Amino acid sequence: MKPLSEQIKEKPWKGWILFLFTIVVVFFLGILASSIIERRAEAVFAYTPKVEHGQWEPRNDVWGENFPRQYNRFLQTVDTSFMSKYNGSAERDMLEEDPRLVVLWAGYGFAKEYNQGKGHEHAIDDMRKILRTGAPVDGKSSPMPNTCWTCKSPDVPRKMQEMGVAEFYKGKWETLGPEVVNNIGCVDCHDAQNMNLRISRPALAEAYDRMEIDINTVSHQDMRKLTCAQCHVEYYFKGDGKYLTFPWDNGTSVEAMEVYYDEYKIKDWTHTISKAPMLKAQHPDFELFETGIHAQRGLACADCHMPYLNEGGQKFTDHKIQSPLNNIANTCQVCHREETTELLANVYERQDKIKQNRDKLEELLVRAHVEAGKAWALGANENQMNVILQDIRHAQWRWDYVAASHGGSFHSPIECGRILSTGINIAQEARLKLARVLASFDYNQEVPYPDITTKAKAQKYIGLDIDNMNAQKERFLKEVVPAWDKEAAKREKTYKIKNL
Ligand code: HEC
Ligand code: HEC
Ligand code: HEC
Ligand code: HEC
Repeated sequence: MKPLSEQIKEKPWKGWILFLFTIVVVFFLGILASSIIERRAEAVFAYTPKVEHGQWEPRNDVWGENFPRQYNRFLQTVDTSFMSKYNGSAERDMLEEDPRLVVLWAGYGFAKEYNQGKGHEHAIDDMRKILRTGAPVDGKSSPMPNTCWTCKSPDVPRKMQEMGVAEFYKGKWETLGPEVVNNIGCVDCHDAQNMNLRISRPALAEAYDRMEIDINTVSHQDMRKLTCAQCHVEYYFKGDGKYLTFPWDNGTSVEAMEVYYDEYKIKDWTHTISKAPMLKAQHPDFELFETGIHAQRGLACADCHMPYLNEGGQKFTDHKIQSPLNNIANTCQVCHREETTELLANVYERQDKIKQNRDKLEELLVRAHVEAGKAWALGANENQMNVILQDIRHAQWRWDYVAASHGGSFHSPIECGRILSTGINIAQEARLKLARVLASFDYNQEVPYPDITTKAKAQKYIGLDIDNMNAQKERFLKEVVPAWDKEAAKREKTYKIKNL
């Protein structure tokens, strides 16, 4: 073949074609390069931090400067407008909806006030307002220890760094009032250096340690549920230091935890009517979830409670943690093809069926407490009663385990059904034994069921003076809380942040 220059001399159009072709190639290369640079700039824009803050920064709005999408959705957990059949984010007075609870918790704080869980942005406010934390005014103490703050705030990891974990738990609730003021937030689940998910609460890591599992080696998908398992679990306050502890040493089933509590003779309170040594189940959402089909298929909490969203071509995680029933399109329907109404019906069907047996067990427990009260009144002794009281303890623990796990009847309906049926059996056993004790005192009729048709009647029945408590609480909220917030605001001004 002749050299190119000679070809062009013979046929000049070849030169022109080559020239035009080169121009076109260069033009498109230019477009490509410019697009790459633009994307880079966008990426830099999206991820360039605007502020630099400390590892333990508790203020969510400071983190929000760098991650506005997550922060803006996170703020929306303040919303209280969604109510599903049994859950949701609305203010719901559970004692009014079901006054039997008051009798089941006689002698314990929950009989004073118990509301449906709301979004994370309410954590601190709800805790200050609830009657259970009391009214520390006039030098009086709260009935609760500082351990109660543990699941409420990103000030907790900060304070634990400063004071040490054991020291943090010690002391009455009001002593850390001015320190713990921010609602659940970024530092609870994220490492400030790289935004990786991390465990900030020692109780979970310690429980894993005792089970000889290294929590630092779990998969990313596991972290998408373990961050929740820091708080949405069963726990108790161990010993005088009120050290937050998960009762998982024998396993995480309802029976394994019961064995643990019995072995260490843990009791949360003594029931004022039956005198039974009671356990209060907290909220074993994680433990129950683990026994259900979605866990078995590898889902994590975030798959339904923190779905992916899209904004301007950017995929990100929805930080408005809430009932998935308020967002079926982005949660269930990512995996299931069924219509919204059908999926909703699936959830409600499971919840309705579990509730049937839960309500039955509740009524049996009210009867057992009242009958035990009657037996004591007739002169029964501890020898006669101890086995019965143990039964009442076990039956109510099983009821509470299911009732307190708000998502449990959907997360794991079969396990919930099983637990309730064992509870019903134990409660009936207790009542059989009670009938014998009552008969030994010639009491052969039904012990009357109390009139507890409203919360007020039930609270009066167990002897609670709610009006006085409300008045004290109002004073506490007006006189003490603003001072806590003022002190906190002053301290927070000293935290270092660098604008970049
Ligand atoms: C209760 C735990 C929790 C809290 C609180 C939390 N996050 Fe997240 N965050 C997650 C989870 C889970 C993911 C998903 C991680 C994944 O799948 O890779 C995530 C992902 C992220 C990501 C990665 C990008 C994305 O959207 O997937 C950023 C950035 C982020 N969160 C910022 C924040 C900020 C800012 C706050 C505070 C305003 C915050 N998070 C509070 C659990 C939490
Ligand atoms: C630091 C402790 C903590 C962590 C971590 C945490 N939660 Fe919560 N969560 C709470 C508390 C406390 C409430 C109740 C707040 C209230 O009622 O004031 C709550 C409430 C909720 C609710 C009820 C919201 C509503 O609108 O009804 C859901 C759902 C929930 N959490 C899911 C999760 C999921 C999923 C995770 C993990 C991604 C998680 N939580 C991590 C403490 C925590
Ligand atoms: C990430 C995927 C995924 C998401 C999100 C998801 N599911 Fe599922 N779901 C599954 C898988 C996988 C199974 C097991 C089915 C199988 O293996 O045949 C399942 C099973 C079920 C079942 C049958 C379980 C039973 O009790 O027998 C129901 C009902 C269900 N899902 C409803 C829902 C609802 C309601 C939501 C939203 C709140 C949801 N799912 C969200 C993947 C998902
Ligand atoms: C397959 C989807 C799915 C997964 C995965 C899942 N949940 Fe749920 N969760 C639900 C549904 C559906 C409800 C019932 C909501 C209702 O009744 O409004 C619920 C309810 C809850 C509630 C009560 C919500 C409220 O409005 O008060 C909490 C708390 C909760 N889940 C925590 C968790 C935790 C913690 C995990 C992980 C250990 C988890 N969930 C995993 C679907 C899921």
